Amino acid sequence: MSEQPPAPSDAAPPALDVQTRASLRGFNTFGLPAVAATLVRIAGEADVRRVVDHPQYGRAPKFILGGGSNVVFTRDVEAVVLKVEIRGRRLVAETPEAWIVEAGAGENWHEFVAWTLAQGWPGLENLALIPGTAGAAPVQNIGAYGVELEERFESLDAVDLVTGRSVTLQAAACRFGYRDSAFKQQGFGGLAGKSLITRVRLRLPRPWRPVLGYLDLARKRAETGIDAPDPGTIFDWVCAIRRAKLPDPAVTGNAGSFFKNPVVSAEQCRDIIGRDPALVHYPLADGSFKLAAAWLIDACGWKGKAVGRAAVHDKQPLVLVNRGGASGAEVVTLARAIQESVYGRFGIRLEPEPVIV
Ligand code: EPU
Repeated sequence: MSEQPPAPSDAAPPALDVQTRASLRGFNTFGLPAVAATLVRIAGEADVRRVVDHPQYGRAPKFILGGGSNVVFTRDVEAVVLKVEIRGRRLVAETPEAWIVEAGAGENWHEFVAWTLAQGWPGLENLALIPGTAGAAPVQNIGAYGVELEERFESLDAVDLVTGRSVTLQAAACRFGYRDSAFKQQGFGGLAGKSLITRVRLRLPRPWRPVLGYLDLARKRAETGIDAPDPGTIFDWVCAIRRAKLPDPAVTGNAGSFFKNPVVSAEQCRDIIGRDPALVHYPLADGSFKLAAAWLIDACGWKGKAVGRAAVHDKQPLVLVNRGGASGAEVVTLARAIQESVYGRFGIRLEPEPVIV
């Protein structure tokens, strides 16, 4: 059933794979220059425990790096960078209610999604083509085209970076929010830099039901005349929509959406619509409204504008791009200028989505 061994192996090499003064440029999808004083490749749980027990690295601050698709490096990294390369994917259980599938944290997310579909276990098709690793998926609770990771989440394994203990966490402990989780949070209950995700398990409900509510997918349905698409068709549609709108990080450096879509009160939303009737807004269950940050940025005239080699993508202004050779400082300067103009015109503070280092 699976092309990989059923139980992913933790047989790590006898010593840690450590590199000093390692360039991170190839390890972040923005292609930003930064150097890690120490970079350790993590191939399994045993490697994490070796780091924890290490006389020098054990107590040092840590920075966990997955696919580098949601990070903006503005400087060199002094913390010990743990580059997660844990592989393996398998079907954990199959019941009348669901397929439970598991990925090593270092597996490429999109390849994992494609693999589940090829095995006949649908449910992740709306999340196709999101850059990054499976281990990073719960960190920012990835979401696209009407599905958020937390809706498919079963549990994850992580190693505590202080005690070296392995734990299995359920959804509640992960504190999922919109593009947020405990793994991005500091302080009480926050796990940022404290816990390294090793494996992620997803629950794919049976019978499969398509999620087609998102406007772009409704359009595809109308365009193609396919009223009841199968999972593979939805996968293809999502890939086509993303390719048309979002820059491919392999070609043009970027970290996906740079800002979160802001949530405002009904009163604030009405107020803005009074001045700008075209405002793109979506009602939420609690009576508040989510605004399209792309629209706000577009309305301020930012499409295609640049600071040095950092620019606003011309097809989706929520995405900032590296035109080649940009520094993290240029990206952050551009982001601040966008925040100021959106605040000046709409009174809304846009919050960055990626982790800024
Ligand atoms: N829009 C404009 N001008 C543009 C482009 C878009 O006004 O040039 C408006 C349109 O009205 C459009 C609306 O913005 O309907 C929303 O755009 P889109 O449907 O592309 O989605 P988004 O809200 O900009 C979010 C996620 C994406 C995810 C898409 C699809 C966030 C921060 N971003 O973008 O996630 O792929 O929905 O579900 O929630 C990511 O997180 O990195 C990411 C790419």
